[in-house]
Amino acid sequence: MTEINRQWLINGNPAGRSVKLLDFKRLDQELVKLKDEELRIKVEYLEFTPSLKGQMENQLDYAAPTTHGQVMRGRGIGEVIESKSPKVKVGSKVKAYLGWQDFATLKSSQVNVVDNDKFLLAHLGPLGSSGMTAYFGFLKAGKPHEGNTVLISGAAGAVGSMVGQIAKIKGCYVVGTAGTDEKCNWLIKKAKIDAAINYKTVDLTDKISRNCPDGANIIFDNVGGEFLNSALELKNLAIGARVVLCGAISRYETFPYPPGPTNYFNLILRRANMQGILSPDYASEFPQAVEDIKGWIDDGKFIYREDIQNGFENIPSAFLRLFSGQNKGKQLIKL
Ligand SMILES: NC(=O)c1ccc[n+]([C@@H]2O[C@H](COP(=O)([O-])OP(=O)(O)OC[C@H]3O[C@@H](n4cnc5c(N)ncnc54)[C@H](OP(=O)(O)O)[C@@H]3O)[C@@H](O)[C@H]2O)c1
Repeated sequence: MTEINRQWLINGNPAGRSVKLLDFKRLDQELVKLKDEELRIKVEYLEFTPSLKGQMENQLDYAAPTTHGQVMRGRGIGEVIESKSPKVKVGSKVKAYLGWQDFATLKSSQVNVVDNDKFLLAHLGPLGSSGMTAYFGFLKAGKPHEGNTVLISGAAGAVGSMVGQIAKIKGCYVVGTAGTDEKCNWLIKKAKIDAAINYKTVDLTDKISRNCPDGANIIFDNVGGEFLNSALELKNLAIGARVVLCGAISRYETFPYPPGPTNYFNLILRRANMQGILSPDYASEFPQAVEDIKGWIDDGKFIYREDIQNGFENIPSAFLRLFSGQNKGKQLIKL
């Protein structure tokens, strides 16, 4: 009997607007025979990142272009169920760009074999791109010192929650912003950061200055917009502050983009710098980061939260959760 591969294809370009369910289209395809060096992988879990929207729009020059009608891109973990490569055995668990589908057909050079152990899913979170972004963005661009005050936006998300905990491990005082009281409670009680601000219910500039009375030494920004301008308020910026630009999700649904932060001039007065980061720049150092993070997890210094939705049908709606703040931690789906 021929096996059917259910797929979600790109069916729209969400540039300048929110991504919608209609931006994806279902297609059922028959699987074809494998060629030499190819693997057939049963997709088990997919991860979601806000950058997938930018990739649909072809706005990110570090990612290969996407086209209307192609299988939606997405990283995941799956099991090799057929192999024409001597390098990867049937039964291996692999991490790769598997795409939004039941079965991926890839060359062995396109996958990373991962151990089927307690860290299996962590390869899509703290040991994956979210973790590497947090680790290198914070340590390399943030340049923390013990006693520094660190201010993080999107602090309960996949990247932000890891930055906060790494900052605590490095002896910093950590203040985070998030969009619900539940997320703020989690940040204080479970992630053990020092203060959490629900940015939707307060005067953000004032609340930041109350929580960072001497200004922030490091600002790790995942959202941009109003948060960034509030963080750059003179009283919120310590002398020599490092402002790390990781993401700007508050503007991912708008075009033309809003004007930049009017408070940028304060970078001059505070002799501060602002730096964008992309984790692939540090790929040669990933193994050390993975070892450090595994060690912190084993020592109980570092926790992570996975938000696992279920079912192939729900892949597009799971992705949309990122833009409405519904995800609690790393957004994943189990097929
Ligand atoms: N530079 C890099 O290499 C790199 C790598 C990965 C991710 N990123 C960026 O880092 C940021 C976080 O990514 P993530 O994967 O960790 O996602 P995430 O934080 O797990 O999920 C996205 C969160 O963004 C918040 N959000 C959504 N719309 C918002 C808005 N209009 N204003 C403020 N907050 C909003 C929501 O949390 P609330 O409930 O708190 O609003 C939502 O839960 C994104 O900007 C992403 O593009 C950059």
